[in-house]
Amino acid sequence: MVQEKVFPLTIPLLKAKKLAGEKIVAITAYDFPTARLADETGMDIILVGDSLGMVVLGYENTLPVTMEEMLHHTRAVVRAVKRALVVADMPYFSFHLSSDETIRNAARFIKEAGAKAVKIEGASPRRLAVIEALVEAEIPVMGHVGLTPQSINRLGQYRLQGSDWEEAKKIVKGARELEKRGCFSIVLECVPEELGKIITQEVGIPTIGIGAGRFCDGQILVFHDLIGLTEENLPKFVKKYADLAGIIRKALQNYANEVKEGIFPDSDHAYHVKWGKLKFGRPLKGRTKRTAGKKTN
Ligand code: KIV
Repeated sequence: MVQEKVFPLTIPLLKAKKLAGEKIVAITAYDFPTARLADETGMDIILVGDSLGMVVLGYENTLPVTMEEMLHHTRAVVRAVKRALVVADMPYFSFHLSSDETIRNAARFIKEAGAKAVKIEGASPRRLAVIEALVEAEIPVMGHVGLTPQSINRLGQYRLQGSDWEEAKKIVKGARELEKRGCFSIVLECVPEELGKIITQEVGIPTIGIGAGRFCDGQILVFHDLIGLTEENLPKFVKKYADLAGIIRKALQNYANEVKEGIFPDSDHAYHVKWGKLKFGRPLKGRTKRTAGKKTN
């Protein structure tokens, strides 16, 4: 069989998509099978988001997520992906102390895990300096403004950002600065559509919206939200494209019922040998209604 050549999605190609007005499709993924599905279905960017803390690891927010956890999941995703650009999210407190420490941490995602870029939340002056240092160290950076979930303790709740003009102007300024410092793209999270549109027009790099309306250059959603595995506290901007929790629950219930009733495993799901008539042995304990008396081969 001839293997089809896969052309990896690169950072210059993302920029070209913006210029051509071609929408960019992004999704989060945290493990091998879901990353493979995301890649096979043509996602341009796969973000190993620190949202994994909440959707996969069961933390209350993203703050406890560690570098080691992020590296572990990024490696699994990278092993599955052939085409998409894999971006690793820098977890809380991995980029706050100094540029040197940030470069050291970010470089682990590139060298040890095989990610192509990192994402950093925020656009404060200190954050901008760190981003500049990363770019200088050949580590591509995706910015992230609007709702920055790592600021949850300051914000008090996950809510719309930039709804008043003063706050909106700060977010626009932050986005412009991120572009100036060398970010290749910016995530805009939970801002009014009007603000998403202004920023998308203002910056030359692709904007990737999540709850930022229709006019961003691309969209991203959290994998588990989109497929219906997140069952509580879904934000307004999430569209559920499937109800996997319902499907999985039903499958598990069917499995449990069949085991209890002796329906599973049936003969088709068992291995068989041809030993002829056995002259020894006692009746098997746990023989079920359905298998008792049946031939074993
Ligand atoms: O961690 C994450 O999944 C993210 C996306 C919401 C953009 O940052």
